[in-house]
Order: sequence, then structure tokens, then C-alpha cells
Amino acid sequence: MVIKDYFSVSEAAEILGKNSETLRRWDNEDKLKAVREPISNYRVYKKEQLEVFPEFKLYFNKLDKGNFVEPLKEYQVLELFAGAGGLAIGLEQAGIKCKALNEIDKWACKTLRTNRPNWNVIEDDIKNINFTGFKNKIDIVTGGFPCQAFSYAGKKLGLQDARGTLFYEFARTVKETEPKICIGENVRGLISHDNGKTLEGMISILDEIGYNVVSPVKVLKAIHYNVPQKRERLILVAVRKDIDIEYNYPLAFSEIYTLKDALKKGSLFNRNVPKSKGAKYPEHKKKVLDLVPPKGYWRDLPLDIQKEYMQKSFYLGGGKTGMARRIGWDEPCLTLTCSPAQKQTERCHPDETRPFTVREYARIQTFPDDWHFEGSVSQQYKQIGNAVPVNLAKEIGYSIISFLNEVHKEGFKANELKTLAV
Ligand SMILES: C[S@@+](CC[C@H](N)C(=O)[O-])C[C@H]1O[C@@H](n2cnc3c(N)ncnc32)[C@H](O)[C@@H]1O
Repeated sequence: MVIKDYFSVSEAAEILGKNSETLRRWDNEDKLKAVREPISNYRVYKKEQLEVFPEFKLYFNKLDKGNFVEPLKEYQVLELFAGAGGLAIGLEQAGIKCKALNEIDKWACKTLRTNRPNWNVIEDDIKNINFTGFKNKIDIVTGGFPCQAFSYAGKKLGLQDARGTLFYEFARTVKETEPKICIGENVRGLISHDNGKTLEGMISILDEIGYNVVSPVKVLKAIHYNVPQKRERLILVAVRKDIDIEYNYPLAFSEIYTLKDALKKGSLFNRNVPKSKGAKYPEHKKKVLDLVPPKGYWRDLPLDIQKEYMQKSFYLGGGKTGMARRIGWDEPCLTLTCSPAQKQTERCHPDETRPFTVREYARIQTFPDDWHFEGSVSQQYKQIGNAVPVNLAKEIGYSIISFLNEVHKEGFKANELKTLAV
């Protein structure tokens, strides 16, 4: 395990609870001077520079107790767009019961049923399902709806305006089931999608159907939640308007796991990664990647090979640090995608010139070794690459339990007062 050495300007702003303008002013006043990160040349802050601020310790949950909390009663979730179950297993590990899951993809459904024969897996297009039967039976609705633009008529968006999008189906399910809390999971890009209008529209629709979105909507970095991967997920939380309890996002951990922690016996897994099938690079790509050292990428190639390999991208500028990338043992893996050998997103094994195997992929997403994936090898990669990392989902699960426990206590108090009044 290592602690990250550099923090971007936006990360530093979040850690110190300041905005980027304040950091810029501090930079000018020499109070806190940004430095250049050696590989990307971006403006960053060294860990040592931030550690002197008391906020640094507060931000990271220094004692690394995690967010663990026991549920005061059994809480039930309806998980939409469930995929191979990354979010669902994490919530289950936290102690939340899965009432039902919906997913359209037959291989992902098979994966869910193989691993959890008792789960109620509804295999269908969400558009065909009426969820009203779940009203009063669930506490939480979760779902990683794919991001799509809305069409606007220049007004505040209502539920009906979103018809035809998968967010509409998510919101419709919330309306039909009235859970205490709902959680939408998405890519960071949702923040800037259609200049922020898509997210704004989602917030206004949730408002219309009786839910307050917890502000600001946060993007959680998986590396801060025991995941050896630099993946980020936008987590949109909305609380039913009749509930006056604050939801708090899970606290981050200070330690960061690396690829070594993912694949070898250690504090994250108690044995080395099991052997499994995996994709191979075509011969041409293998020859090129053979020349890249661990933690290296296309810039580490001889110039003529850089030009030949990158083709047009060579002249387009930008870091493209994902191209011809070999991961090092002592760093977290870059974000895994749905297919392991794409040109823009190569993540080569540190010692061998090959993509990660299926089980290595699953480890990097913190799936347990006994979670079996169904379908062809490429189906399996897709299911894993699509998932919310299990350990991140578990911490989100604890944050939901903590919220629902408070709701439960409030309800209990209100009932006691009623009884006393009688
Ligand atoms: C990002 S993945 C979800 C990953 C999942 N939350 C996990 O942690 O493993 C989105 C899923 O939505 C499913 N999906 C897309 N359109 C759908 C629809 N119309 N009805 C039901 N599921 C759908 C896809 O098949 C895909 O598995």
C-alpha cells in the first residue's frame, strides 16, 4: 500500500475545503505553491505540502476505521441496471438486502443468478416493467443509468420531458416505489454533459417527483475506498422530501492500494490471483508494448515507433497517457474499460506483455474470487469493466445504512411521542 504523492488542484481544493480561486491566490502569495507533476507536467501539490494543513487529516479518515456501521433493521434495495452486480455485492457486503435487480443483458443476468440463486433477477428492458408492487417494500433504489441528453424547451425540466431516456425510467421507478433514498451512479462526464444541463435536468426532475438531491453532487475516487484503481464514479443521492435527515457521503481512506495489492497475497486479498482466461495482444501491438517499461507509455518508445504506432494521434497533442501503457506494481491501475486491448486504453501487465486476465480484471474491480462471470471472455470483460468497484459500493452501502439508521431512530422517537400522548 502507498499514499499518493501528488494531488491535482481540484483534489487539493476539495481536501482543504477551499475553492480553486483561493488556491490560485495562495499560489500567487507563495502560501501554497503548486509544482509540476513529473510525467504529465500538470500543476499539482505534493503530499508533504498538504499534510501540514489540519484539514488534510480531517479529510482522510486517518484511523482508517472505514464507514462501517451495523443496520438497526433489515434495509432493502431495488437495484436497476444491475450488470454483473458490482454495486449489488458491495451493498450486500455492507449489510443491505437485495429485494430485486433489473438488467436487460442475458449474460449479466446469468452471472447474477449463478452467484446468487436466491436473488430476484428481473431480466427485461426496464421500460417494460411496472415497479408499483415494490412500494412500501424497499428503502433504497439504486441504478447506474446510461447517460443521455434531454431535449429542452427552455424551461425547468419535468419527468415527462425526459421520456425516452433511461434516466426517465430510473426516476419513474423512484416515483412508483417511493424509497426513502435513491442513488444514481454515473461517469464523471455527467457533470459537464450538455454543459451541465443534463445533470441540472435530473435534479429538477427528482425535485418534481418529491426528492431533494444532496448537494454538491460528488464524484468519488475509487482509490480512496480500498480499490486499487484510479476509477471515478459520480454518485447522485436524493432523499425523499418528507425525511429531514442529512445524508453524508462515505469518508475517504488515506491509504491507497496498488496493483501488487490487487494481484498478490497481502492486506487486500489473502492469496495470489487465481489463473484464468484472458485476451492477447495482436503480434504487432505486443512487439511495441515489449519496449515499454512498467509505469511507462508511448513516450517511452523510440521516436520512429511512437510515430508509427500513434499515427494521427501523435500530432494531435494531449498526454494520451493511456496509449501503449504498462501498469507498474507499485501504482493503482488506470480505469479498466469494457475491453482490455483498446488502443486508447491499454493497461498492459507489468511483467508480461499481455492484457490483464479476467480474474485479474475482477481483482482490480475488487470482486471476490468466487464471483463467477458468465458468457464469452469478451462478455466477461464487459461485465467487469462496466461495474462499480465492489469495495467502493460497500462504503457507499455503509453511508446509506448510516442514513437509514437515523431515519429509523427518528421514526421510533415519533412513535414513542405518539404513544405518550395517548
Ligand atoms: C454501467 S452498467 C451497470 C453496472 C452495475 N451497476 C455494476 O455495478 O456491476 C449499466 C447496465 O445497464 C444495463 N441496461 C442498459 N439498458 C437497459 C435497459 N433498457 N433495461 C435494463 N437494463 C439496461 C446494461 O446492460 C448494463 O449492464
